[in-house]
Amino acid sequence: MSYEVYTCTLESQKEIAPNIVEAWVVNAELAAKAKPGQFLHIQCGDATSMPLRRPISICDVQGDRVCFIYEVKGRGTKSLQQQYGELDILGPVGNGFTVDNGKYKCPAVIGGGIGVYPMLFLTKQLKGAVAYIGFRNKDLVTLEDEFNKAADSVTLTTDDGSYGVAGFALEELKKDCETKQFDIIYACGPKGMLRAVKAFAEGAGIPCQLSLEERMGCGIGACLTCSCETTHEGTDKYKRVCRNGPVFWSEEVVL
Ligand SMILES: Cc1cc2nc3c(=O)[nH]c(=O)nc-3n(C[C@H](O)[C@H](O)[C@H](O)COP(=O)(O)OP(=O)(O)OC[C@H]3O[C@@H](n4cnc5c(N)ncnc54)[C@H](O)[C@@H]3O)c2cc1C
Ligand code: FES
Repeated sequence: MSYEVYTCTLESQKEIAPNIVEAWVVNAELAAKAKPGQFLHIQCGDATSMPLRRPISICDVQGDRVCFIYEVKGRGTKSLQQQYGELDILGPVGNGFTVDNGKYKCPAVIGGGIGVYPMLFLTKQLKGAVAYIGFRNKDLVTLEDEFNKAADSVTLTTDDGSYGVAGFALEELKKDCETKQFDIIYACGPKGMLRAVKAFAEGAGIPCQLSLEERMGCGIGACLTCSCETTHEGTDKYKRVCRNGPVFWSEEVVL
């Protein structure tokens, strides 16, 4: 797998919720290559003082423009928020979701927290997606209109019940399984949510793909910082999220 580093025009950055920034960059080649579930490894400031890039998922692509949405957390993302002009981006990195509209006629998409963002690009490429998006509270709700346009139906939940349905998105997906026959589930979100999605999907016999998040160093498979445990034997036991993922079939990974 070879990756390119692109110099992208940073078109805009806008805070769309407290500490949540939507950014658009322009680069025709990057946009043409991007697939749902892949991520961008972004130089967030001066490479001498901050040599490590930060991984952020691709949220949307429109023509030659690529969108990503990030939570401002620590040094890297704080510095990223201050950038303007151009951004140095390695990518698109990793193996994305399997999109097969011929095979999967009734896909469910579930995202929690910052895990909602990569699911928009996926939902837009699926036919007939049923989406479940969960946020901590009303203030953090983002992309509602975009999901409503992209999916057949959308259930929005908040943990504290301040907007949408109160509770966890997975509980709503489970309820709908009584009337809908999902033939694949795609998920991205906190580890606890992914663990619960994996257990449910495997129990119900529904194929499931999970997008994992691990701390990353190089982003190109060289440093092993991002290793995750899998169900494979021997030397395949640990895989690199950046190179072998970030999307895995649920049965492949130990969470
Ligand atoms: C494949 C992938 C896709 C991602 N996509 C997105 C996205 O679309 N939007 C988004 O907001 N974030 C995303 N992240 C998480 C994002 O990379 C981290 O929040 C970011 O690197 C933090 O950098 P920082 O320098 O601001 O914070 P740091 O100072 O490095 O850390 C601040 C806090 O964030 C935690 N943290 C750092 N890296 C990660 C990580 N990889 N996963 C979980 N916690 C972390 C640290 O433990 C610490 O508590 C993604 C991560 C991966 C691996
Ligand atoms: S981040 Fe270096 S191997 Fe994945």
